[in-house]
Amino acid sequence: MSQPLRLGVAGLGTVGAGLLRLLQTHGARLAETIGREIVVTGVAARSRNKDRGVSLEGMPWFDAADRLAADPSIDVFVELIGGDDGPAKAAVEAALRARKHVVTANKALLAKHGTELARLAEKSGVALNFEAAVAGGIPVVKAIRESLQGNDITRVYGILNGTCNYILTRMEQEGLSFAECLKDAQRLGYAEANPSFDVDGHDTAQKLAILASLAFGTKVAQSAVYVEGISSIAPEDLRAAADLGYRVKLLGVAVRTAKGIEQRVHPTMVPKSSSIAQVMGVTNAVTIDGEGIPPITLVGPGAGGAATASAVVADIADVARGIRANPFGRPISHLRDTKKAPMERHEGGYYIRLLARDFPGTAAAIATRLAEQKISIESIVQRHPNGGAAPANGKAVPVPVILITYATHEDAVRRALAAVQKDKVISGRPQVIRIEKN
Ligand SMILES: NC(=O)c1ccc[n+]([C@@H]2O[C@H](COP(=O)([O-])OP(=O)(O)OC[C@H]3O[C@@H](n4cnc5c(N)ncnc54)[C@H](OP(=O)(O)O)[C@@H]3O)[C@@H](O)[C@H]2O)c1
Repeated sequence: MSQPLRLGVAGLGTVGAGLLRLLQTHGARLAETIGREIVVTGVAARSRNKDRGVSLEGMPWFDAADRLAADPSIDVFVELIGGDDGPAKAAVEAALRARKHVVTANKALLAKHGTELARLAEKSGVALNFEAAVAGGIPVVKAIRESLQGNDITRVYGILNGTCNYILTRMEQEGLSFAECLKDAQRLGYAEANPSFDVDGHDTAQKLAILASLAFGTKVAQSAVYVEGISSIAPEDLRAAADLGYRVKLLGVAVRTAKGIEQRVHPTMVPKSSSIAQVMGVTNAVTIDGEGIPPITLVGPGAGGAATASAVVADIADVARGIRANPFGRPISHLRDTKKAPMERHEGGYYIRLLARDFPGTAAAIATRLAEQKISIESIVQRHPNGGAAPANGKAVPVPVILITYATHEDAVRRALAAVQKDKVISGRPQVIRIEKN
């Protein structure tokens, strides 16, 4: 058997402790399959005395992650600290400069500094592996970067945040509000005390930026991602979607268009029959469309210590076997600048929910504004409260109107709805959800 592969592990939280547990439980089997023993020759975290539920015996402690990163006693630096700057970045840079292979689960760091870190790895001739950074335990990075090289990828989209999918699933199944489901997600530990990073779509955006780079050979550009979260989604949207044959999911979508690469995160109506619509609860999924091949959907756990650690181990195993792929699939000099397709030019179907004021001429005014923008309506549903009976107090109440459009441009929809609002024929703000066809 070859020399053992020596790991320095920085960060011993959910994923770091999960990694040590996995190596301790399955180390012998791994050594047999890889043909090389994997040993942890250094660890670092913030507090030395914390009980992590896993033995650190025989693993030298380092007070500073960047010292561990460059220490001669390690071959691979495993960064499981998190954060887009600060100690994680400093330690990863130190490791790459010292010609250590790096394995990381840190999507925030890669979404912000991925291209420059990949450049550093290339210069030092070492691996920069990050399977765990996108969709946790689903092997989607390697699938796109290596297994699907023969495919000309046209679109990648997925459910990349378990918290949002959990909330939308409960809202749909139990008719609960966003706020009620968020509270439950926090109680169960699926959502942070400050949930905005998840529910406002930023976590999904970081993962999408990495997927887009892998799929389209562009430099990672988180700033090119259009982001909308799920907090405006109401139970009536999910009910209407169900009636019309759709489900609502928070999707990250990267798609090649004639105008450039669209990268967008927003609540999305997907046909109930699609693979992605079947994905419920905290589960993640990614669908990859390529020219001339049917879509491929990978489904699995997007987070959790054991699932994420399994992806980290797969990256470590590659290093042990001497496999080194370009971090983003091609040499740095071949990565193109991202040509961002403007969101106003996005073309697709739209779900629009309006609260129409109940007086003569309202429907005609709405229809006129849509027609002015050449928006064709595929279906229209009017939901009279009280089944259309006159309200007891005699006052007219607004009537929910749900429209599904044929493919149209986003700026046409925005213009039409601005005009409808100006006409004062609706109450409140219109709800708009984009439709993604499979
Ligand atoms: N959790 C998941 O399911 C999951 C899934 C996919 C990807 N990830 C990614 O994996 C990474 C780790 O996530 P996690 O959930 O395991 O985080 P976590 O539970 O908060 O653990 C973070 C660890 O980093 C240590 N740390 C903090 N500052 C440090 C410093 N300056 N030097 C050395 N160590 C330091 C902490 O030390 P103490 O323990 O002493 O405080 C802790 O052990 C993140 O990039 C995250 O995005 C996580």
